[in-house]
Amino acid sequence: MLSDKDRIFTNLYGINDWSLKASLSRGDWDKTANLMAKGQDWIINELKESGLRGRGGAGFPTGLKWSFMPKEETQGNPHYLIVNADESEPGTCKDRDIMRHDPQKLIEGCLLAGFSMRSHIGYIYIRGEFYEESDRLQAAIDQAYEARLIGKNACNSGWDFDLFIHRGAGAYICGEETGLIESLEGKPGRPRLKPPFPAGAGLYGCPSTVNNVETIAVAPTILRRGANWFSGLGRPKNSGTKLFCISGHVNEPCNVEEEMGIPLRELIDKHAGGVRGGWDNLLAVIPGGSSVPVIPKVICDEVLMDFDSLIEVKSGLGTAAVIVMDKSADIIEAIARLSHFYMHESCGQCTPCREGTGWVYRVMQRLITGNAAVSEIDKLEDVVGQIEGHTICALGDAAAWPVQGLIRHFRPELERRIRERGKNAA
Ligand SMILES: Cc1cc2nc3c(=O)[nH]c(=O)nc-3n(C[C@H](O)[C@H](O)[C@H](O)COP(=O)(O)O)c2cc1C
Ligand code: SF4
Repeated sequence: MLSDKDRIFTNLYGINDWSLKASLSRGDWDKTANLMAKGQDWIINELKESGLRGRGGAGFPTGLKWSFMPKEETQGNPHYLIVNADESEPGTCKDRDIMRHDPQKLIEGCLLAGFSMRSHIGYIYIRGEFYEESDRLQAAIDQAYEARLIGKNACNSGWDFDLFIHRGAGAYICGEETGLIESLEGKPGRPRLKPPFPAGAGLYGCPSTVNNVETIAVAPTILRRGANWFSGLGRPKNSGTKLFCISGHVNEPCNVEEEMGIPLRELIDKHAGGVRGGWDNLLAVIPGGSSVPVIPKVICDEVLMDFDSLIEVKSGLGTAAVIVMDKSADIIEAIARLSHFYMHESCGQCTPCREGTGWVYRVMQRLITGNAAVSEIDKLEDVVGQIEGHTICALGDAAAWPVQGLIRHFRPELERRIRERGKNAA
């Protein structure tokens, strides 16, 4: 279990004040200019050494990503830092709490990340529904400007850095980094083909880096406490602390910061008051937000909560949103509901996603009541396999994986319902 001295988000629950004054007393903005004086390459190297992997879902190494940005501005093309505060992955509600209870961590992180990538401008793209959070964040940004922590000669470092909030309109696809960039440019959020990647041609065709709120918010503490401290937590290649969002059939749903690699069972028992009705009443868990494959109890018994451990069991850490289902859950209906979500959120550019997500949803609807032939399960598996990896963005994969997880682990239940219905009809 993570000890309090290693906690980054010390005001995650908003028990203390969110204001700049209170944030300073928690250690934010402590000698930020000294960190900047060590240089841009030092910051990027520390992030690399720390082993931090992006907290937005894909787990890409953060220092490496920052190093892809050009060393200097060319032909007057500005560099942009973009913070992804769209947080629309079902089950996920961690970035919201950072923004409303600990916003200065994010703002300081923006300055340090922006400086290291030679960016004088940062945009925070926040989902439209986070109305109060965007007000709170704006108030925190205003306080940082007033204290000259950002703006001209930020923190007396000689670096100018401006930070703007941009409110989205609540489309899941605007969380995908290139869909987000399109939306920021004032266009519909339709993902772009890659390459070029944003570091080459991003916002307005200029070098840009998109990072999740949590990724940026942990950077100042890593730089202050050192890469070795962060990499000493968790497991190799899966280091540090992580915010987990635990919801569903647990006694006390919560957000909690824990060490990467904590056993799933310990996470649920210690922080969420255990599974409703006890551990043996557990049916399955979606361990990383709606996009990752569901895992049954037998895997939950032993699995560790980090990127590589969950990949080994053919699931993923994703956003670390742990959705718990006890034996009262209708697992087929639950996954069918997710299929509806992906059908609804598809932007429609790619045929496999546009047509496939609707087709999958319709079959899933019939499977809830067993109104299908057993051979359709194979057909469904084949079709989701045709969506996966054949689209512009990863929404196609996200639509395929929950269904694949269902078939992998709950095929007997799918077949049982088809047989039962057949018997009743006869
Ligand atoms: C459909 C879709 C939705 C996404 N939504 C979010 C989101 O709400 N927040 C987020 O940080 N990343 C989201 N991502 C991941 C981003 O594309 C991107 O990888 C991430 O912001 C990079 O930040 P990181 O390197 O700090 O993890 C989404 C990806 C896809 C495919
Ligand atoms: S995969 Fe789906 S959401 Fe992504 S670009 Fe293609 S159609 Fe749009």
